[in-house]
Amino acid sequence: MRNLPKDFIMGGATAAYQAEGATMEGGKGPVAWDEFLIEKGRYTAEPASDFYHQFPIDLELCEKFKIDSIRMSIAWSRIFPNGFGEVNQEGVDYYHSVFAECRKRNVMPFVTIHHFDTPKTLFDNGDFLNRENVEHFVNFAKFCFEEFTEVHYWSTFNEIYPVATNQYLTGAFPPEIQFDLKKTVTCLHNMMWAHARAVNIFKENNYEGEIGVVHSLEPKYPASDSPEDLHAAMLDDALSVKFLLDATYLGYYSNSTMDAITEILEANETSVEFDENDFIEMKKAATRNDYLGINNYHSHWVKEYKGESTLHYNTTGKKGTQVYKIKGIGERIKRDDLPKTDWDWIIYPEGLYDLLVRIKQDYPNYNKIYITENGMGYKDHFEEGIIMDEPRIDYLRGYFNSISRAIEDGVNVKGYFIWSLMDVFSWVNGYNKRYGLFYVDFETQKRYPKESAYWYKLVSETKTII
Ligand code: BG6
Repeated sequence: MRNLPKDFIMGGATAAYQAEGATMEGGKGPVAWDEFLIEKGRYTAEPASDFYHQFPIDLELCEKFKIDSIRMSIAWSRIFPNGFGEVNQEGVDYYHSVFAECRKRNVMPFVTIHHFDTPKTLFDNGDFLNRENVEHFVNFAKFCFEEFTEVHYWSTFNEIYPVATNQYLTGAFPPEIQFDLKKTVTCLHNMMWAHARAVNIFKENNYEGEIGVVHSLEPKYPASDSPEDLHAAMLDDALSVKFLLDATYLGYYSNSTMDAITEILEANETSVEFDENDFIEMKKAATRNDYLGINNYHSHWVKEYKGESTLHYNTTGKKGTQVYKIKGIGERIKRDDLPKTDWDWIIYPEGLYDLLVRIKQDYPNYNKIYITENGMGYKDHFEEGIIMDEPRIDYLRGYFNSISRAIEDGVNVKGYFIWSLMDVFSWVNGYNKRYGLFYVDFETQKRYPKESAYWYKLVSETKTII
């Protein structure tokens, strides 16, 4: 059996829009998701896990189950209903009361400033494609640093790559634009620039605490040894991993990254120009990140693909329905020989090990790492208050072993946040894809610990991966 360091943080992750519910309460302004989900007619973020009212219960559960830290986000439109301008004091007071409860329960808040929920006014005005909105984001971040002095850990963004690709490449998120590589790359860059500016403000004002960014990083392996598949995997990696890590730790894009991005853009008959001044802020921030947050659920195997882009997102949990082929990049293949969740996410703990070792080698100034999301979406069965989720425990054991191996090999990983603390609402899957340590009955809002919650508690207490 492997161990974890004694001071290793065992956390649980949530996000405002997926946990809070109360989308119209407390003076909160609208976000694009509200209308989008109503139009789709499948489900909405009401009631979600009603964290807006149930947070004392969730934090009590954290204390009971030895969960050291809660990863949560501040809903931008609860503070600034229009994204900027007048402050909604009720929203400010709400987060102060959550942080006070965290203190009471000895649970450390690990807070994300932006988790997929740009206020609607700014979203309709181009979201992060519009550089004016970068100003509004930076002002919101500064407001948070000054107001919420109870917070020690800040993350600027949750998952820049999924924001850019789901909004402009796969179209899974509003505004549902597909295959627009120009918008995708522009959004990635503008968000990395916004991150850098928030980091620089944090450091130059000497706010107390630590700041970093959370990236979704999924390793890309070639589907075969052929030069064509090796090249396709390299292109997919350049857009989804290397672009972000270069921006975060170098403050610019290395030549090999830019060559790959240019090739992808050209294949899609487009191009992108960056403002050279952006790199001044980005280079300054590159040595100032206190940590990197990694969200990792799965890995991909990529083969050459020469056709037009075509996609099918598995949002139902019907295994084998996912299709991902992007013009100018490649095709992510199925790998029937590897275990998968019902949503076709390939379970491959080795991928996380490879990723951690790669970051240490390629970006020696990475400082330290938190695994800010990892977990298994599963159709949990609730039988008389008992939820046996062995597959989730197996999943977690595998990934924890990879983390432990990486630590042994010198990677500075300081903590882990399971996605998710309790069952929450899923952006594109609604309520049937559950991830929580605590089962939520979404009608009564009662919480029930799953088998995995007891396993997690034991790991937290003993720092042994049982
Ligand atoms: C991450 C996000 O991408 O994955 C979460 O940060 C999200 O917000 C999680 O819920 C799991 O994704 P999904 O689609 O299975 O809910």
